[in-house]
Amino acid sequence: MRALDDELTDLAGHYRRFAEVEAAGVSPRYAELAAAVAGDADVLGFLGMLPAPKRQANLLLGALTFLHGGPPADGAELREWVVGDADRLRATMLARATQTNEAARCAALLPVLSTLPGPLALVEVGASAGLCLYPDRYGYAYPTGRVGDAGSAVQLRCTVTGDGPVPTRVPQVAARAGIDLDPLDPADPDDVAWLQALIWPGMEERRDRLAAAAAIAAREPAEVVRGDLVEQLPALVARMPAGATVVVFHTAVLAYLDAAAREAFVETVSGLPVRWLSQEGVPVLAGVRDRLPEPPAAEESRFLLALDGEPLAYTAPHGGRIDWLPAAAALRR
Ligand SMILES: C[S@@+](CC[C@H](N)C(=O)[O-])C[C@H]1O[C@@H](n2cnc3c(N)ncnc32)[C@H](O)[C@@H]1O
Repeated sequence: MRALDDELTDLAGHYRRFAEVEAAGVSPRYAELAAAVAGDADVLGFLGMLPAPKRQANLLLGALTFLHGGPPADGAELREWVVGDADRLRATMLARATQTNEAARCAALLPVLSTLPGPLALVEVGASAGLCLYPDRYGYAYPTGRVGDAGSAVQLRCTVTGDGPVPTRVPQVAARAGIDLDPLDPADPDDVAWLQALIWPGMEERRDRLAAAAAIAAREPAEVVRGDLVEQLPALVARMPAGATVVVFHTAVLAYLDAAAREAFVETVSGLPVRWLSQEGVPVLAGVRDRLPEPPAAEESRFLLALDGEPLAYTAPHGGRIDWLPAAAALRR
């Protein structure tokens, strides 16, 4: 009994932190809902019966949104949905994982991809539904001009500061493939609805973009291998077409791995005949962070874009902004 009480106290702390740190200022609705969970013994009791990784706020709120077509209006409705429909909610939370997929992250990848000799074979680790595997199928608006498919249903606007490569066209892609622990199918309406449910309230533009990118991916399916990215990478790279520049890339993925697995990944990718393009939170890859010309701000929330471990830019976590670092100037044509 004592252990369960401790667990619930911890859980309440997780939801309070989510309300006060993660959601505050970004999604008032999620901040209010998470704060309500932190004070509701019945909802905490429901969560406490789930395996630990399944108790997190993003998963609960995503599952409720998925099952009801939108988030609860307030703490009272959340409680009603949890207590009154516990079996369906539990099944959804056990079956699904938090794995957002954001095509807008391609706007930071494209300038670097455009400097590599084509055709490219794109291999994305942690691909989710693979929506970042189609940088050549989207349209882009940079301060320097428009690039890519102006008729695409996915149009990405990107602010740029500093001196870096300026893409004038999208790369030729000879192959696209990915790896994910739990690949989602962009042609499956349930999988797309799940990804949309993971987008926080107030970010409707992201929801529309996701549906449009999923439709593009569904028309031209890429193989996404189910499995661990360290274990599966060498075999997948070996299957890429001869004559193509193989680019192994990842965005918002390695934070899910522990330190030993991240090290194993860096060692594996560094030993393969590939170019390695990473876009991750600043603390995630110590080897990249240590090569920054100046120490990052303690509260730095932007991602770091790096090619072969060399940091090139800070980028917005969900896309839409590139702040080039001095090393990127060398990539200008
Ligand atoms: C936040 S999502 C990012 C998806 C996509 N890269 C993007 O930027 O939109 C992280 C993805 O990494 C996957 N993932 C986490 N750990 C993994 C591992 N060890 N091996 C393969 N995939 C993993 C998750 O399943 C999830 O789909």
